[in-house]
Amino acid sequence: MSVTAPNNEITVERRHPLIGAEVLGVDLARADDDACNRIREIWMRHPLLVFPDQPISDAEQIAFAKHFGALEVHPSVEHRSSRHPEIYRVANVDEAGRLLPADKPAAKYLGLTWLWHTDSSFRAVPSLGSVLHGIEVPAEGGDTLFANMYAVYDALPAEMRRRLAQLRAVHSHDYVMSLTDGLAPADDDHFTQLDAVSHPLIRRHPVTGRRSLFISPHTMAGIEGMPDSEARALFDDLIAFATRDSFVYRHKWRPHDVIMWDNRCTMHAVMPYDAANARRVMHRTTIVGDGPVLPA
Ligand code: OGA
Ligand code: MN
Repeated sequence: MSVTAPNNEITVERRHPLIGAEVLGVDLARADDDACNRIREIWMRHPLLVFPDQPISDAEQIAFAKHFGALEVHPSVEHRSSRHPEIYRVANVDEAGRLLPADKPAAKYLGLTWLWHTDSSFRAVPSLGSVLHGIEVPAEGGDTLFANMYAVYDALPAEMRRRLAQLRAVHSHDYVMSLTDGLAPADDDHFTQLDAVSHPLIRRHPVTGRRSLFISPHTMAGIEGMPDSEARALFDDLIAFATRDSFVYRHKWRPHDVIMWDNRCTMHAVMPYDAANARRVMHRTTIVGDGPVLPA
């Protein structure tokens, strides 16, 4: 049962040494400005927050997320809720509750969340943070992994940090789809069109001032001024480094967990599950970024 408690009763407990903290003592359906200010403070110290047992409605989730900024509408038309365009349905069932056949583009697009990524890295202003409500979760698999990219940056050799600080990666929404057979990019009926953009590989967080490695493997098409083969080799090294176990929290979902992460200093991936048979329904609200990515 979620409880309403005065803000001073909000408690925080780490779930991982670097990333992932559980927040208790707040009812997200009724969180007011004071509670959200308190949550924001906690969030800046723990880039991934877990709020267990929060059976909120879509409208309540939208109201909660709006305390942290305006909300994005996701470019994939098929994954938007028909009632609330700000809800991105990370779900392997359609709105009528039917499992999506695995060969349907909507199912394949969803499969891209199994790759490490940062939400909306394909936008000129990537997302600030995301709030995800786990509504139906599979008994096995489908955990979500989160990497703390501050810690990744801090652990990089100094020479590599200096080198990366000079570089900008090119990010493209269509790159994601070019990775997958049967997903056609650039189709107005299914996806809002977005031009490729570039972002610094090392970014500075506008609130904490800390530096982090900014990579998003599913949208990174190359590095400005670098041959593709060299860029790809560098990406592969950085992805392998950033996803080492020590940087990563693994979230095992329970129904009605609500989690929120800061996209300005984390990266995430969904672990495989039996998507053809096991239902997994998550509703995401995505907070619009607070400006272009700040270089180091
Ligand atoms: C997301 C995503 C995470 C999940 O919602 O941004 O990548 O656990 N999915 O489904
Ligand atoms: Mn995501």
